[in-house]
Amino acid sequence: MDAANDTASSCPDRGVPAHVAVIMDGNGRWAESRGLPRVEGHRRGLEALRRTVRAAEDLGIRALTVYSFSSENWRRPAAEVTALLMLLRRFIRGDTVELHARNVRIRVIGDRAGLPEDIIALFEESESLTRNNSGLVFQVAFNYGSRDEIVRAVRRTVQDVAEGRLALDAIDETALSERLDTAGIPDPDLVIRTSGEMRLSNFLLWQAAYAEFVFTPVLWPDFDRRHLEEAVAAYRGRDRRYGGLSAAGGQN
Ligand code: IPE
Ligand code: IPE
Ligand code: MG
Repeated sequence: MDAANDTASSCPDRGVPAHVAVIMDGNGRWAESRGLPRVEGHRRGLEALRRTVRAAEDLGIRALTVYSFSSENWRRPAAEVTALLMLLRRFIRGDTVELHARNVRIRVIGDRAGLPEDIIALFEESESLTRNNSGLVFQVAFNYGSRDEIVRAVRRTVQDVAEGRLALDAIDETALSERLDTAGIPDPDLVIRTSGEMRLSNFLLWQAAYAEFVFTPVLWPDFDRRHLEEAVAAYRGRDRRYGGLSAAGGQN
């Protein structure tokens, strides 16, 4: 019994990062290397996302944030942007009911201003349907850019001061965090980026201050449960010091 309790599946909380964030990159290269249109890579990327949500639930991860479309991705050709919006609609429309049945709470982060009305409505419907769920918190970053998010949070902070809801000297890290799109969700413990790129591309700059990073060459459409388990295993081997001294080192 004790031996069984040492495995991740029977003891899901032990050393498992509470919040994992993923930069799902490499869809285009996956498709291009097969002579397929880039949109086929995005379609297969959606399947990888479904697998990853399930694997995260099974591992006992409490929150999963995925970067699905950045505020800079509008620079891509119109046809690719349109295809990505269609896939997003299909995903939210088609998967919300099943995610709800699995007790998943859906949240969407990013700037909604200027997005198509029907997409905003889909976000609101899936968030309100799943609002009271107590299982995995599944955050989809769409039209998300971390600098844009921080600017919007600063604007809200200034407005709250101007309108008397917040004292100037009450502005601190908590006050700003509470005005970010991710308010109420603890910072990510682990950030994974696929496709071999080693940059944040404007993702969770504030929240990832003390995250551990795992970069894998795997292209996102190929990502599966095993790769998530490998990233979690790498995370478990890390020594998180937060500027202090290692817990193990302190005893030696
Ligand atoms: C990630 O894959 C998906 C989005 C950014 C929307 P990419 O489309 O960036 O794939 P690569 O990096 O071109 O291979
Ligand atoms: C980051 O990937 C955004 C998403 C995965 C949605 P990009 O492919 O847009 O990032 P860059 O352009 O290579 O930095
Ligand atoms: Mg990319």
